[in-house]
Amino acid sequence: MTAQIEPFHAIAVSTLAHRIAADAAAAGRPVIHMEFGQPSTSAPAAAIARAHHVLDTQAQGYWESQALKERIARHYHDTAGVTVDPSQVVLTCGASPALVMALTLRFAPGARVAIARPGYVAYRNTLRALHMEPVELVCGPQERFNVTAAALAAMEPAPDGLILASPANPTGTVIAPDELAAIIKVCQTRGIAVISDEIYHGLTYDGAQAQTLLAVDPEAVIINSFSKYFSMPGWRLGWLVVPPALVDQARARMGNLFLTPPVLSQNAGLVAFECQDELQGHVAAYARNRQLVLDALPALGLARIAPPDGAFYVWADIGHLTDDSMAFCLKLLEDTGVATAPGIDFDPVEGRRFFRISFAVSTAEVEDALARMKPWFAARMAEAAV
Ligand SMILES: Cc1ncc(COP(=O)(O)O)c(C=O)c1O
Repeated sequence: MTAQIEPFHAIAVSTLAHRIAADAAAAGRPVIHMEFGQPSTSAPAAAIARAHHVLDTQAQGYWESQALKERIARHYHDTAGVTVDPSQVVLTCGASPALVMALTLRFAPGARVAIARPGYVAYRNTLRALHMEPVELVCGPQERFNVTAAALAAMEPAPDGLILASPANPTGTVIAPDELAAIIKVCQTRGIAVISDEIYHGLTYDGAQAQTLLAVDPEAVIINSFSKYFSMPGWRLGWLVVPPALVDQARARMGNLFLTPPVLSQNAGLVAFECQDELQGHVAAYARNRQLVLDALPALGLARIAPPDGAFYVWADIGHLTDDSMAFCLKLLEDTGVATAPGIDFDPVEGRRFFRISFAVSTAEVEDALARMKPWFAARMAEAAV
């Protein structure tokens, strides 16, 4: 039987956002897109310039950039002191195909793979589409919504695998280094294979550090992408790092399932690595936006959150106002022009009383969104009190 999977519910919010966009703009209150987790900035200027040149001068064939693989391997050496051979790097069309490849490399149909709940919606759905079984670890505010060694140790029977994300989506929380080491110890003892989704690495605040899992688990399969830190989601470029024993099978999967990422993107991605000033400028903007949102939450009556250590999200409990986060996000959008993501995307059980705000927009838009939301939330709270 084919697997039935859920759509991204945030798409319904985004569809409405686009439908009302013209009227909202005409009314002087343009829609603010905080529903998807994507930077509102474009790729670094030098990367775009490189892409223009490549488009003008080269055929766009099937191609893999050896230079990019070498640059990515060097990145692990420079940032974590970890030696990665360029042959271990497999270039992909973003983290999403990398996830498919990682799962089929490590697991067979029927495998039980642990994921955090709340967690990135595609983990659950990709596992199901591949006829694997997502086993959800309930992660509450006391665990800062992320996996713990104790929870993993208590799972009976032990799962075959674990997908880790730190910083995580939708919460932005980072697993502390000692907890991460304890998680890996449990995995090694219980024979649990780990996939580490490091797509939000580079985006951390207030001294939080997200180190590659390769530093503690050379057998981990690592997923990464140009979609977040590098501000290039539509360029569809990412990578996998696999242990040497899996290189041939990883390359065979990429070749058969996806061939190669676009030539333009690979060329631009290589240049993007050298655009650190511009990219760090984005991180500084996100840090300002994060602080603005955190400072404003009490006035919105949103007290039950875990301050994000990284990524660009705030995951907030709105259970005092609704038990239907989808209807809540649609109403918020209709009334204020602010688009947000309903919690049901990330947590099919508790998500009815959570929503996620993405602050990867401009600081002016964050300020505007908060100013619009403040009276709206005040009115909702007054209604709820009656
Ligand atoms: C945790 C996580 N992993 C993977 C992805 C997919 O990213 P990509 O654009 O690289 O396919 C996303 C996108 O939002 C994400 O949040």
